[in-house]
Amino acid sequence: MMYNSKITGLGYYVPENVVTNNDLKQWMDTSDEWVQERTGIKERRWIDPATGDNTSSMGVKAARIAIDRAGLTKEDIDFIIFATLSPDMYFPGGGVRVQDMLDMPTVGALDVRNQCSGFIYSLSVADQFIKTGMYKNILVIGSENHSGGLERSTRGRGVTVIFGDGAGAAVLSRSSEKGKGILSSHLHSEGKYARELMLDGPATGRWVPEILAENNPDDVSYYPYMNGQFVFKHAVVRFSEAIIEGLQANGLQKEDIDMLIPHQANLRISQFIQKKFQLSDDCVYNNIMRYGNTTAASVIIALTEAWEEGKIHDGDLVVLAAFGSGFTWGSVIIRW
Ligand code: ACO
Repeated sequence: MMYNSKITGLGYYVPENVVTNNDLKQWMDTSDEWVQERTGIKERRWIDPATGDNTSSMGVKAARIAIDRAGLTKEDIDFIIFATLSPDMYFPGGGVRVQDMLDMPTVGALDVRNQCSGFIYSLSVADQFIKTGMYKNILVIGSENHSGGLERSTRGRGVTVIFGDGAGAAVLSRSSEKGKGILSSHLHSEGKYARELMLDGPATGRWVPEILAENNPDDVSYYPYMNGQFVFKHAVVRFSEAIIEGLQANGLQKEDIDMLIPHQANLRISQFIQKKFQLSDDCVYNNIMRYGNTTAASVIIALTEAWEEGKIHDGDLVVLAAFGSGFTWGSVIIRW
């Protein structure tokens, strides 16, 4: 027997510390005008280290809310999926930390490393586990602590101004309602562009002793690198393809979309997609203005906020889409 999976709980957590575009000027030569014009970002949240927040603990805060809203307890969760590019430790990943911090039974915990499409991939994995009948309730988390690893200088400004910290969580549960819940997911990758958006080292291809031995003050391989315009050009194409692929697989048209939640990479990308699909402002949710790009957390934070604001109704067609480092991209189509 095949089951359906549906989202039964949503939650998010962002650090309290607001960093405006003007605040960034203390570290780098930039301006509110440049950042807003290119990206739409007005401010982002960056962890204040004094609070002790980290990638796992933010995920836990979002997860508590999602589990509670699902009307469940941590004992009801059968499996954890944790998406991040910024784990607290090189290994193990964030999922096991959540299992510990939430004092959960010894359920499985899987980390997904798919950067900006991490939440889309995670939701798809969770959907398969539920559809086969293996698990009933899966906790899916996307969380990022970018601020700890960004270069706060003029040299790093092209990347640093874009990224923010935060976490979101969803509980995906078994459902017997036909035609509702996750209708499809489509996932893609094109690894030949891995180096266009990446963090080179420390990793086994470029380990700490090598970096230290070179003693090169200009070495910034331990900061993220992004070929911005190249990524932008691919993003607009792949976003569109993933959405069309998802709609076609379900025999749906762009007119059927009630709510599109695009990964919050750049407001200009979201606006391009909105125009291409001729969607009204009510049918697209953006919050990059307030949070910047929170990578694996972005789609789930936006979905949670849209739902909290009453913008997602029973029976709505909700489309999630993301593109990012890898390159990886994909879409998830949900009948709410
Ligand atoms: N403030 C002021 N000036 C800046 C800043 C800044 N923060 N950053 C760069 N500049 C300058 C550059 O030095 C350059 O100056 P120059 O012309 O004198 O050399 C000029 O502004 C233009 O820089 P570009 O990098 O060409 O700017 P661009 O218009 O491409 O915008 C941006 C950069 C916003 C990053 C854009 O390319 C973009 O959004 N790309 C896509 C990002 C994306 O989708 N990422 C995928 C998800 S992320 C993930 O997966 C982890």
